[in-house]
Amino acid sequence: MEKIIALNHKMNLNYGDIKSYINSLKKLDLDIIVFPTSLYAKMFIDNGFKTGLQNIYYHKRGAYTGEISPKQAASLGVNYVLIGHYERRHYFHETDEEINNKIRCALMENLKVILCVGENVYEDYKIILKKQIQRALENIDGEVMIAYEPRWAIGSKIIPSNERIKEAVNYIKSLFNYDVKVLYGGSVSSENIKTLNEVNVVSGYLIGGGSTNINELKKIKEVVC
Ligand code: PGA
Repeated sequence: MEKIIALNHKMNLNYGDIKSYINSLKKLDLDIIVFPTSLYAKMFIDNGFKTGLQNIYYHKRGAYTGEISPKQAASLGVNYVLIGHYERRHYFHETDEEINNKIRCALMENLKVILCVGENVYEDYKIILKKQIQRALENIDGEVMIAYEPRWAIGSKIIPSNERIKEAVNYIKSLFNYDVKVLYGGSVSSENIKTLNEVNVVSGYLIGGGSTNINELKKIKEVVC
């Protein structure tokens, strides 16, 4: 099974860096999904990349200063959206209800949704994952992908054991009545990708910190592809 590689740039890269980044990424010849800062989405789309937004709003249009609607994103050629990322839940106090609304509206515009879920270090992962997934997908018919990102693994350079990832991913899969794709995210790097890649239930990776570093991506590609 071909692994999915998704790049979450977060709020990194300036306009001046983007052109050379895109050129280098093209040369890597990697089948990826890029989640750039929204400002740059069109540049990735125009260069033929599968492109997503890191966040989305849940109304079609209107007086919502600073927001981007799924309809606007789709009309630009955006294919994917990340919803419920830990940093959105934590810094922007995104609630399960908002996440649910965002998913519903994104699916209505045929955007592919990657729902991010993950527990804190002191939490029981089964309880948290079940709660986050059930609430996010309440009364939603369409299919989504999941990014399993334990909160303590994001940006920490610490990853769970393979055993633990496998258990969590299998648990997530057991909550769905379709063959849901589950990506792993949290400190994925060239140093740990060999080990991570032994977990065969994982459909791919969501890479944050390493995603703007072309050399790092090159090394990850050598292992994954
Ligand atoms: P990280 O981020 O790779 O820097 O840990 C992953 C993410 O937040 O999606």
